[in-house]
Amino acid sequence: MIISASTDYRAAAKRRIPPFLFHYADGGAYAEYTLQHNVSDLSGIALRQRVLRDMSSLDLSTRVFGESLAMPVALGPVGLCGMYARRGEVQAARAADKHGIPFTMSTVSVCPIEEVAPAISRPMWFQLYVLKDRGFMKSVLERAQAAGVSTLVFTVDMPVPGARYRDAHAGMSGPYAKWRRYWQAMTHPCWSWDVGLWGRPHDLGNVSHYLGKPTGLEDYIGWLGANFDPSISWKDLEWIRDFWKGPMVIKGILDPDDARDAVRFGADGIIVSNHGGRQLDGVLSSVRALPPIADAVKGQLALFADSGVRTGLDVVRMLALGADMVLLGRAFLFALGVGGEAGVSNLLSLIEKEMRVAMTLTGARTIADITADSLVRA
Ligand code: FNR
Repeated sequence: MIISASTDYRAAAKRRIPPFLFHYADGGAYAEYTLQHNVSDLSGIALRQRVLRDMSSLDLSTRVFGESLAMPVALGPVGLCGMYARRGEVQAARAADKHGIPFTMSTVSVCPIEEVAPAISRPMWFQLYVLKDRGFMKSVLERAQAAGVSTLVFTVDMPVPGARYRDAHAGMSGPYAKWRRYWQAMTHPCWSWDVGLWGRPHDLGNVSHYLGKPTGLEDYIGWLGANFDPSISWKDLEWIRDFWKGPMVIKGILDPDDARDAVRFGADGIIVSNHGGRQLDGVLSSVRALPPIADAVKGQLALFADSGVRTGLDVVRMLALGADMVLLGRAFLFALGVGGEAGVSNLLSLIEKEMRVAMTLTGARTIADITADSLVRA
């Protein structure tokens, strides 16, 4: 039974989806130190309870880049959603649409942009990686623009991939990976029927469109692995800044100096993120990185945060520390794996309810009322 946003979907996903996919989502880089601290540091932030303040009416709405959002939450970019539910990107995007918040499509999605954008009523956001193949980057940006994508999220914390040991242990990579995945699929018949069979093609829709041939999971790992670009610098982003007409958000900032550089570069927003602890293990948790970054650049661009957000209370904590909006990763991916569109929709309802309770008991009637005063000072 799903009651809690933070734990129940993860537990249910562990039962329903094959281990190689569960651990691909659940795991982080190296010893997973940062992954754990994202969650424990965030949940350790004490909210300041206030009472007897007539909290009968609350307003969770906000505006981001001129778009009105029902709450300051977005579905962040997560690759391979279409392996977790049948045509998973479409289902997740529909749930976000229903709840009046943005869906951010990952470069490495199963469904292509052209399948998802027409399925929803509000403009989609699109995430792009820095890749050696600049031809691919240009072509996918053109397609995003043609499909009416409003906001570009540019992920910069992956010049090289962080090693995720769990992937090799669980069969996502490593020896006999293909055979291990077949076996896991056979022993998870609900997933095999719903996603394995009826969720095809299991392409990387955006990539296969460009490469002109079908791509599968092996190709995904191979193509992406060969395409990370450690030579990237701010200068390489200039042509994208000139090319992209809408807001551009830089994802993967953890340091105030990099945040200041993003302002100088002319970014419209940044996402304070350590990629959910999937890149450099040992870096600061996002919630610890956020306050000095807010001190450095708050008000000069839109300030977003992710990594470790599991509940509506976590959303309120991030907002209180300076974020204008918060992105979900694993939290929605597990809900997608368990219940598809309905699962993500239920998760978003739970998050909204939790936010309402947190706002009521911290005395915040609007999103603007959620400030450092909503927290107990250390
Ligand atoms: C990600 N993330 C990610 N980020 C990105 O910019 N492009 C991508 O394709 C992906 N893919 C991806 C797959 C999976 C399975 C996960 C779990 C994460 C990172 C994601 O956008 C976000 O930064 C983290 O998920 C936030 O951490 P939490 O909330 O999941 O702990």
